[in-house]
Amino acid sequence: MKVCILGTGYVGLTTGVCLAYMGHDVTCLDTDEAKVATMRGGKAPIYEPHLEDLMADSSANLRFTTSYAEAVPGAEVIFIAVGTPPGANGSPDLKYLASAANGIGEYLDGPFCVVVNKSTVPIGSGNWVGSLIRDSIEKARGPQSDRKFAVASNPEFLREGSALNDSLYPDRVVIGGDDSRTLEVLYRLYRPILDQTFSPPTYLPRPDGTGAVPLISADLASAELIKYAANAFLSTKISYINEIGQLAEKVGADITKVARGIGLDARIGTRFLQAGIGWGGSCFGKDTAALVATASEYGLDMPIVRAAREVNYKQRDRVVDKLLGELKILKGRTIGLLGLAFKPNTDDLREAPALDIAKKLIERGCKVKGHDPVAMERFRKEYPDLAINLVDRPVDVAAGADAVVLVTEWQEYRELDWEAMMKTMTCPIVLDGRNILDRERLVRYGYRYLPIV
Ligand code: UDX
Repeated sequence: MKVCILGTGYVGLTTGVCLAYMGHDVTCLDTDEAKVATMRGGKAPIYEPHLEDLMADSSANLRFTTSYAEAVPGAEVIFIAVGTPPGANGSPDLKYLASAANGIGEYLDGPFCVVVNKSTVPIGSGNWVGSLIRDSIEKARGPQSDRKFAVASNPEFLREGSALNDSLYPDRVVIGGDDSRTLEVLYRLYRPILDQTFSPPTYLPRPDGTGAVPLISADLASAELIKYAANAFLSTKISYINEIGQLAEKVGADITKVARGIGLDARIGTRFLQAGIGWGGSCFGKDTAALVATASEYGLDMPIVRAAREVNYKQRDRVVDKLLGELKILKGRTIGLLGLAFKPNTDDLREAPALDIAKKLIERGCKVKGHDPVAMERFRKEYPDLAINLVDRPVDVAAGADAVVLVTEWQEYRELDWEAMMKTMTCPIVLDGRNILDRERLVRYGYRYLPIV
């Protein structure tokens, strides 16, 4: 099928590349010329494991452009995957969505096209996008235009760092639309993934036990709400274990044991019960805020979701409180941060806890050093005013430091020579923000080991 993707961020580019790999004919549009030039050269503008490999393997079916005139005509399915950054009062800013809708209306020319909202949009946006496209068609071709389209919702559930895996082998696919013709088009599009009939790339093997992927077809509003409800639930699950972690600390319990003990109950599940500094990233913060904002438009309060947010952001203060408790005076101290990205295997810094923690420490008069295996270049570009002294090697974070905080659980940080590192520190304090280091070993070396909970 002929597919057009508007926006080449984590969601758009991953979706485009995976659909091209399935054999669809995909054109990805981005208004950023430099980004398009990068992708034409076979490079991904973001860090995502194996994305460039899959781009290379799908290149025969994959094109990049900055022009709506090139991307839109003839498309049977158009994905809108533009950014919806947080705006004022918790509602997402929809200006990119509006300009994508205008671009579509101007160049739409096929007999029937499904326009899919892949961006996380407020509930009800499907109808709004539809009206913008209609206005734009009318402006370009007059009121009698016979251009036919339908708006659908197809929320994505991919996690950065494992985006390709999550897209090729999803737990489910959700499609929302208000008529059967629309749902039928999307069913055809996703069929190779639903039936798992494609040959997996060698570097992304099909996980054992993967069967046919369940398809949930729903009306527009339900599909839109599924996305928010899923992300708010996962955010709440993490905040729940972090709240229990605070009590665990008081009563002398081990939160990782507690999490395992409750997670093995199949009704609860072990995933997303990793206690620590809490969640960051582009989705959980924004989506929980948007859910609360949408509910309030209907006069509804969402105390559980609000509490999940409150618990999450408090975890960052707890890092500072713990350092204060140990060091007594923070002014003039040097604190080393291991990890800047909001999670491992990505260079994404949106809502990254490291940034917030660094700001809080700097406000208290600390000097902050930092390292990240892939996100430092991006940090330099995006946060030139945040005074983190970046070092090339993770061990250099420890040199002269009064404490090291493990913020992002990159594999390489587990494997550091912690014994040698300790000798270069002013005070041998390590705060394990993800509760993943080998406590006994570190204590044996002579560290003062602080878990986050
Ligand atoms: C999330 C959702 O998982 C995905 O389905 C959605 O479509 C987009 O948002 P993402 O933000 O990429 O994906 O990463 P995810 O793996 O969900 O992690 C989010 C944050 O939660 C990270 O900061 C991570 O460190 C934190 N987290 C995750 C925990 O603190 N504990 C856990 O147990 C799991």
